[in-house]
Amino acid sequence: MSKYWKPGSERPTPVLVDDEEGGVLFVSTSSSSSSSQLERLRQRLPVYKYRDAILYLVENHATTIIVGETGSGKTTQIPQYLKEAGWAEGGRVIACTQPRRLAVQSVASRVAEEMGVTLGEEVGYAIRFEDQTKPGLTMVKFLTDGVLIREMMDDPLLTKYSVIMVDEAHERSLSTDILLGLLKKIQRRRPDLRLIISSATIEAKSMASFFHTRKKNIRNDTIDPVPNQEPGILSVEGKGYTVEIHYVEEPVSDYLQATVETVLSIHDNEGPGDVLVFLTGQDDIEAAVKMLTDEYNHPRGRSSDLLVLPLYSGLPRSDQDLIFAPTPRGKRKVVISTNIAETSLTLEGVVYVVDSGFSKQKFYNPISDIESLVTAPISKASARQRAGRAGRLRPGKCFRLYTEEYYLKDMPSEGIPEMQRSNLVSCIIQMKALGIDNILGFDWLSSPSAEAMVRALEVLYSLGILDGDAKLTSPLGFQVAELPLEPMVSKMLLSSCEMGCSEEVVTIAAVLSVQSIWVSMRGVQKEFDEAKLRFAVAEGDHVTYLNVYKGFLKSGKSSQWCYRNFINYQAMKKVIDIREQLVRFLKRLGLTLKSCEGDLKMLRKAIISGFFAHACQLEEYSPNGMYKMLRSSQEVYIHPSSVLFRVNPKCVVYHSLVLTDKQYMRNVIAVDPAWLIEAAPHFYQIRKPNPALF
Ligand code: CDP
Ligand code: MG
Repeated sequence: MSKYWKPGSERPTPVLVDDEEGGVLFVSTSSSSSSSQLERLRQRLPVYKYRDAILYLVENHATTIIVGETGSGKTTQIPQYLKEAGWAEGGRVIACTQPRRLAVQSVASRVAEEMGVTLGEEVGYAIRFEDQTKPGLTMVKFLTDGVLIREMMDDPLLTKYSVIMVDEAHERSLSTDILLGLLKKIQRRRPDLRLIISSATIEAKSMASFFHTRKKNIRNDTIDPVPNQEPGILSVEGKGYTVEIHYVEEPVSDYLQATVETVLSIHDNEGPGDVLVFLTGQDDIEAAVKMLTDEYNHPRGRSSDLLVLPLYSGLPRSDQDLIFAPTPRGKRKVVISTNIAETSLTLEGVVYVVDSGFSKQKFYNPISDIESLVTAPISKASARQRAGRAGRLRPGKCFRLYTEEYYLKDMPSEGIPEMQRSNLVSCIIQMKALGIDNILGFDWLSSPSAEAMVRALEVLYSLGILDGDAKLTSPLGFQVAELPLEPMVSKMLLSSCEMGCSEEVVTIAAVLSVQSIWVSMRGVQKEFDEAKLRFAVAEGDHVTYLNVYKGFLKSGKSSQWCYRNFINYQAMKKVIDIREQLVRFLKRLGLTLKSCEGDLKMLRKAIISGFFAHACQLEEYSPNGMYKMLRSSQEVYIHPSSVLFRVNPKCVVYHSLVLTDKQYMRNVIAVDPAWLIEAAPHFYQIRKPNPALF
């Protein structure tokens, strides 16, 4: 190995070496796999041995907790076992939730393939803005936990489901936590409902005590017997191989560079086997792919046998398929992923893992009321999961881009549940819409902080979504809860209907719902900036998006046009689709579309009506474009991807923040500060914007 590495002594995964079965996982799992091959693969999964035990527990216990290593077959097999055992008979549906959309799509398509059915029929999935199910026909449904919470608004007891499997519970995403609390309530009214809580690592005991309800608290309106209320616990023994851990000797300053060098070094020095790299987000993943691909195109041709692929949410379906396709003979696949490959997805063939030690995480500070996406160190639990991905096929190696000392002394042992590091605005609206008034008194797995709650209530009151008694206002509060958008985007959209610019704002809302419509490529920054200038307007990004949308329609939705203009064609197709859905939502609410015919002032006022809390003003004489948030005086900067980068208008409103070396605002528009007070007098009455600006 290169100078970087010194082997560590840790053996993180349970060691159960079984050479005989080592090769079998090379069997193609592509769509060409025959059904008998797939059936054999299914039977080889560790969870298969527990099939009867699982079915017994589910039959007899209200809640079953299943812990098993990633790749043991929990997600793809358990819903099938349930179906085979009759849990989907009589029009009932088996649900399996996932925190991540990409995982929902991927496992649903795998299960449809294994069952030999068309995806969207017997096996379907639902994610925000995409429902691939057929009511009456779908028996097994994969969906995000957020979508399931939303379904409760129409059907509070989730009556169509016989079993709900809350998967990846160890992730403790905001929606998973809300869902678990709500399901516990539903269980008391529905003794026939069965829950499965499954995950890779979980404190099974504390989860079990959370779900242990006394029988006398169960309301049984049916003739079904009340099942055992003490949760059943089952642990699936995996067959992980030894993973040799290597640490860097010195801390690395540039983890992207270190990643690239490490992958090349593995390629040069190690035996066959694919490489899985954990980076943080689309930006650094694309950068690493580019750096490795450049190396590959280098005259030395050093790595022409590397197949480098990115993996992050928002990746087009066609690219996702490449990730799961078997590695072509003579090639080494390198998948550069976010932490989605940590436990949600299993890639076959991985023998080497490179762990940057970071992931993108949401952080919220209730004092400043700032939520941003931060590249932050992972926990030991995550590091162990990442390393374990190298030991599925045969003994593997994990290269950690941090020192052993750091791992032992400084790395936190567990992550903090998202509930305790999130802005609670959406959470409160959803719970209020479900009739839960006392949110602090709700049965939480881990309670959110009172400060965060107070902040969120204050913002919701200012937005006119909650009234003085903290109840949803009518119609606005209820309409916001209906729309499948971030609350501030919903408010912006609903205001635009009143202001007569909904035709434009519905497009903006659709664009803000996709990750980015630009394709940024390192190395062609100049061409990219020029392309952006073709659409850019002084008002800012939101109005620029309208130009892109118009151009896209005018081009006849051409992929060539997108390519020439550095625009992500897939993202634009999604924008069109989401826009159509939003228009349908508005119609259902009795609202109609109206164009402001180029009145950009009105348009910006509509944006402000949702986003006034995100207003910032430029520090006078600031040489580097520093802004301060009007409410909290936090320092922020315009993100380089914004068309207002370096333009620096005096007063701006942003959509979201991302923290890298500084706190950056993404999606920014220039506004007149007077509009802020007009939109939210009570929010700005204490600390007014700088009078010098008026
Ligand atoms: O949920 P868990 O991590 O326990 O395992 P799983 O996702 O059910 O995966 C079981 C097996 O199915 C693994 O061997 C995966 O590689 C395979 N699988 C696949 O080939 N394609 C998918 N889209 C999902 C799973
Ligand atoms: Mg799984």
